[in-house]
Amino acid sequence: MPKPLTIAMPKGRIFEEAAGLMQQAGYDLLTDQEDSRKLILDFPEQNLRIMMAKPMDVVTYVEYGTADIGIAGKDVLLEQDRDVYEVLDLGISPCYIAVAGLPDQPLSRIAPKIATKYPKVAADYFREQGEQIEIIPLNGSIELAPLIGLADRIVDIVSTGRTLRENGLVEYEKITEITSRLIVNPVSFRLKSDEIDEMVRQLSIVIGEEVK
Ligand code: PRP
Repeated sequence: MPKPLTIAMPKGRIFEEAAGLMQQAGYDLLTDQEDSRKLILDFPEQNLRIMMAKPMDVVTYVEYGTADIGIAGKDVLLEQDRDVYEVLDLGISPCYIAVAGLPDQPLSRIAPKIATKYPKVAADYFREQGEQIEIIPLNGSIELAPLIGLADRIVDIVSTGRTLRENGLVEYEKITEITSRLIVNPVSFRLKSDEIDEMVRQLSIVIGEEVK
């Protein structure tokens, strides 16, 4: 039996959509186990191994080759700039990264503070705008920062817009659209090309994309 194809799947809200897509592509990953705390799930009959990873860490597992393939948000790929191949836009979990803050607050003061869990994306964006800013890195609940006076703006994911609305914040600029991508380790891409090509082909059919 060849070594299983290992896929790093994002835990949490993207998992169900990503697993659903794999299911439609003929890879049956939807089991009762998804509710368990197990982090490694084996599917010997399909020669697949699933690693349940934090979305921000999927790219790390794929870059180091501990996973051959991963499903990662474009937000993570932009922020981390890792050595992995991005082979398919799966179109799932659409959202965008935006600049937001309290309403009617022009960015006037020198080096305004920008709270974000995307320091690179935020720094790149404001550099392109010619704005000098100070980044305040946070890990979550970013919307707190302008409410308590820690930051003038946030750079964060907007999905439904509910978090901004319920915290009285408004969007100032959209930075970039985000969807989940299929990523591949460059060595696996060569060594397991048959299995990986087949998976890309099946997923492409499901999402209605032509394989290049
Ligand atoms: C994300 C993001 C926003 C929220 C946007 O946070 O950082 O806070 O979702 O979604 P919405 O537009 O549908 O309200 P997440 O729930 O991942 O948690 P976090 O605050 O810990 O980052």
